[in-house]
Amino acid sequence: MSMANLGSASGLARKRLHIITWGCQMNAYDSGRMSDVLAPHGYDPVESPDGADLIILNTCHIRDKAAEKVFSELGRLRRLKDASKGRMVLAVAGCVAQAEGAEIFARAPYVDIVLGPQTYHRLPEMLAKAARTGSAVFEADFPAEDKFDHLPEQSTPKGVSAFLTVQEGCDKFCSFCVVPYTRGAEQSRSAISVLNEARRLIAQEVREITLLGQNVNAWRGEAPDGGLWAFKDLLRAVTELPGLIRLRYSTSHPCDMDDGLIAAHRDLEKLAPFLHLPVQSGSDRILAAMNRKHTSAEYRRLADCLRAARPDLALSSDFIVGYPGETDADFDATLRLVRDVGFAQAYSFKYSPRPGTPAAGVSGQIPENEKDARLQALQALLRRQQFRFNAGHVGSAMDILFTGPGRHPGQIVGRSQYLQPIHVAGPASIIGQERTVRIREVHANSLSGTLEQERQSA
Ligand code: 5AD
Ligand code: SF4
Repeated sequence: MSMANLGSASGLARKRLHIITWGCQMNAYDSGRMSDVLAPHGYDPVESPDGADLIILNTCHIRDKAAEKVFSELGRLRRLKDASKGRMVLAVAGCVAQAEGAEIFARAPYVDIVLGPQTYHRLPEMLAKAARTGSAVFEADFPAEDKFDHLPEQSTPKGVSAFLTVQEGCDKFCSFCVVPYTRGAEQSRSAISVLNEARRLIAQEVREITLLGQNVNAWRGEAPDGGLWAFKDLLRAVTELPGLIRLRYSTSHPCDMDDGLIAAHRDLEKLAPFLHLPVQSGSDRILAAMNRKHTSAEYRRLADCLRAARPDLALSSDFIVGYPGETDADFDATLRLVRDVGFAQAYSFKYSPRPGTPAAGVSGQIPENEKDARLQALQALLRRQQFRFNAGHVGSAMDILFTGPGRHPGQIVGRSQYLQPIHVAGPASIIGQERTVRIREVHANSLSGTLEQERQSA
């Protein structure tokens, strides 16, 4: 491995950084943060891997043959690396790196750096070490120092809407899930650290922030006065920051949805009336086997309470079909729950055994063709609900936060409170602002409409 061009002092020739991101929003956030950490060291993000000086694969381990996808991508990138005559540095980050670090070096010895999700603030050191020693660098521990305390002042542009991780890790141990093993125990950032980052984002023209965590509503952190805050207190403090238009949070566990947080949906106007609240299954037997610690009736009650607090609230969810032992009756219970609760949007997956998780080893694994059939039936129902939800807005006025130019000249795009993409004819000058739009048409994955108000500023 030759890394003659590597260096960490500023003032060096700019270098090209290409990051490939798989998986959840947390990974998207982490990729942004890796970019931020590297910016003062001379790295600029580029769209293409061709000619990049550093390529980072930010990987996900949650389902399917995640590791295999990483190895096949590495195989492709190896050719680019060979062509670069040793200039290109190849790094694997994220949850596959955490879980399978040794395997990565064994199968892809041309990889220079493997780093777990808790260590990316050390990337400049790792690059320097790899350049100095010429040997591979592996960092996958859970360091004592807080990576969030290592935010560089200089950072990459964020756009109108940005993620902000406030909590990481998971103590819930759902029996199908690898997250408690790859991301570790639940950890909350202090309120000061979150508020400082939120202020920085707003100063960079961010108008919508999504607070992220594997179990974001389990956040309990140090308050600015040294006391303890619950998640609802953090939400309130962020909504009070001048310049912020909207606040969201994701992903939540039903068991951490307490009365105070439900009331926050009533009281905080800037909190979007759209909540991703995974339920996974509608069958109590399967929910118990999954170690979800709530029943189907409890989830329904929670949905009712949230809607009572905020009548325009819409729900999104995650579902798993074909969990070991799932019968037709269990699956029917899931369909029933979907029909009864009603979802604006949802993600659904076939159960995929993850090595090292309790469910992977149990009997009663469901054949693939059965999982396929259930997934299709569930997705058809969810698609119908989503279309009905979207079509229900035609004719109404919605508050749209404009995020960028559209595909056609004179067109701009924005997002509704429910994250629906909205196209209108309008001036680029209102990007970054919220405007009222009269919705005219529903399309497959978006809505279109017309601006209600006269333009106020050019
Ligand atoms: N198989 C299928 N889906 C899974 N998820 C998590 N682990 C698995 C698995 N082993 C899904 C859950 C979770 C979402 C992020 O991914 O629905 O909420
Ligand atoms: Fe995984 Fe369950 Fe934790 Fe979500 S709550 S990250 S599904 S273990």
